[in-house]
Amino acid sequence: MNRRDILSTMAATAVAVSVLGETTMAQDDKTIAIIGTGRMGGAFGLLFSRAGYKVIYGSRNPADEKVQSLVKGTPGGAAMSAKDAAAKVGIIVLATPWSGTEAVIKSMGDLTGKLILDPTNAISFGKDGGLAVETSGGELVRDWAKGASVVKAFNTVGYFVIADPKVLGDRVSVFLAGDDAAAKDKVLAMVNGLGFEGTDVGPMKSARVLEGMSTLYMVPFMTGKQDQRFEWAVRRSGGVKLGPVRPAG
Ligand SMILES: NC(=O)c1ccc[n+]([C@@H]2O[C@H](COP(=O)([O-])OP(=O)(O)OC[C@H]3O[C@@H](n4cnc5c(N)ncnc54)[C@H](OP(=O)(O)O)[C@@H]3O)[C@@H](O)[C@H]2O)c1
Repeated sequence: MNRRDILSTMAATAVAVSVLGETTMAQDDKTIAIIGTGRMGGAFGLLFSRAGYKVIYGSRNPADEKVQSLVKGTPGGAAMSAKDAAAKVGIIVLATPWSGTEAVIKSMGDLTGKLILDPTNAISFGKDGGLAVETSGGELVRDWAKGASVVKAFNTVGYFVIADPKVLGDRVSVFLAGDDAAAKDKVLAMVNGLGFEGTDVGPMKSARVLEGMSTLYMVPFMTGKQDQRFEWAVRRSGGVKLGPVRPAG
């Protein structure tokens, strides 16, 4: 482990403690619930377990062979129903398909005081599919998860990058949208500590744009041009002096 790895792990751990410290003092401060055991769920399991968190998967079928094999590959991991997993933690990651997300949230019962990371994308590629611009999945999740602080995060990041944040060399961007500024600051520190480049893009309303970005992200997959696939990574321009680009007048 090099110095940057050690610092990243330390930062993630410190932030986990601080994130959970305020909401769930009585709960294990390094335990995270990941709801869904598919590609994203498995990738988040690897990411968080490597950073020293205890991972509890919330699954519809925790005894299923596929889920148990994921648990075996997650040191210290466990699987149980989404409701039981949520009850044990302060931070929940929703790694569920959009079609099942509302039901899963409602199945978890009282979410007051929880911090929810929402990487879901409310997009459809069917005939009638398309982006609903009057709202976003992030805003719906925020409204369904009453009492919780929801931060849209990771919805534009490929699962294989979540599983291995250094796979592309440079840091990949994680855009954060949410209406609870304190929760967002904590998630920002957490994602940076986990090896990503966090960028706060404003209130949950911005999830409309983030979900559109995930639609762009999917274009190479949907058009058979996988060799063209990409990840989002910002370049900071704050240090560049802005001046006129054409003569005045
Ligand atoms: N794949 C990516 O690279 C990527 C990137 C960014 C965002 N996302 C978003 O992240 C979310 C998860 O994506 P994914 O690729 O991990 O999906 P996936 O491989 O299909 O896995 C989803 C998991 O959710 C659980 N689930 C709960 N309710 C469900 C239901 N009604 N129907 C089917 N599964 C249900 C299942 O786990 P159990 O059987 O254990 O309950 C399932 O394995 C989606 O909203 C997606 O848009 C994906």
